[in-house]
Amino acid sequence: MPSADLVIHSADMLVTMRGHSDSPARREGMAEIGLIENGAVVLREGQIVAVGSTEDILAEGWVGPYTVQINAQGKVVTPGFVDPHTHVIYAGSRENELSLKLKGVPYMETLQQGGGIHATVRDTRLASDAEVKAQTRSRLKTMLSHGTTTAEVKSGYGLTVEEELRMLRLIKELNLEQDLDLVPTFMGAHAVPSGYTEDEYTDYVVEDMLPQVASQGLAEFCDVFCEPGVFSVQSSERILSKAKELNLKLKIHADELESAGGAELGAKLEAVSADHLLQASVEGIAALAEQGVIAVLLPANSFNLAKNSYARARAMIEAGVPVAVATDCNPGSSPTESMPFVLTLACLYLHLTPEEALTAATINAAHAVGRAAQAGSLEVGKQGDILVLNVPNLDYLPYHFGNNPVDVVIKNGRIVWR
Ligand code: NIG
Ligand code: FE
Repeated sequence: MPSADLVIHSADMLVTMRGHSDSPARREGMAEIGLIENGAVVLREGQIVAVGSTEDILAEGWVGPYTVQINAQGKVVTPGFVDPHTHVIYAGSRENELSLKLKGVPYMETLQQGGGIHATVRDTRLASDAEVKAQTRSRLKTMLSHGTTTAEVKSGYGLTVEEELRMLRLIKELNLEQDLDLVPTFMGAHAVPSGYTEDEYTDYVVEDMLPQVASQGLAEFCDVFCEPGVFSVQSSERILSKAKELNLKLKIHADELESAGGAELGAKLEAVSADHLLQASVEGIAALAEQGVIAVLLPANSFNLAKNSYARARAMIEAGVPVAVATDCNPGSSPTESMPFVLTLACLYLHLTPEEALTAATINAAHAVGRAAQAGSLEVGKQGDILVLNVPNLDYLPYHFGNNPVDVVIKNGRIVWR
């Protein structure tokens, strides 16, 4: 037997997430995390080649003279986090909105007055490729150091054909130039830029943007900000239907601020995920469950909007909706890169157990970005994307917040951060 490149052994708890790669975990399945006590995982040529108890793995003779070993005694080992909803590619920042928020100015009012997303669009258009990439690379590095090994990234701070294509091209370049795997989503329908009516801009997205995005193969998913005052259900349906025709997979920002039928539309169009969902209706939740659409919940966004309103995750889980969680990393509604912080919020405010929250941040999140065959669990044949966490047990992970619990990040079998 060829010896291993890397063996992680003696983990107090090894969370495998096994058995959920064919379809996302739902209901009680979300608590089934495939725990191995005193566990070990073996890596060769970037991939997982064995997973089991430390005793069995060491007896199998994987360790050779050149094998790197990590002793994870007293620690928890998990799959790398998958962050399935980010807007991480942009330039500038919007800390000025904090004082507006403290004065009680609503998010939508800032947007309608030309701030919010529009402010970031202005900053991003003015920044060179090199500047956008440098700022984004630094955020990706923070994400990696907090345990994210795969992330979805949306365009949407361009809002012209040229600028949206530029953002998607930069995502593609960044994907090759740093360690995280990036999954590109086209979100030209992020806001209606000034000078257009909603209908005119919807035409532009459908007729000009989408065909070029699809023909250049720059995106796997298409997403829309479906919200009264931004893109109505009708406009969102036009955009997402066209994207589907062009073989893009679908996501939808649904029912974030108002209940308006976004979840129902996501189910009707067989979206892979519907995201936000704070105000999703009972019918909308039932439709997601029926269609198997993954609910990507963004508790850091709720936390940062500071309205004490969170998605009804328990009702979703009980209805049979597969739940994932994400940072929503963006300069306005959720300026954070940290999946560990999201896990804390998922437990405290979405009322997930630590086991369910981990499922939501790994294998279900991998399904939400079409990467469940490669990532999200520690199973033979998967990418070696693994975290050693400096925590003694699972409860400790969401319990001790505001710090970084990550001890070692392994990406494709290589130690990339410690
Ligand atoms: O997911 N809701 C729309 N888009 C982002 C916010 C982007 C921004 O404020 O810059 C979100 O919350
Ligand atoms: Fe978002």
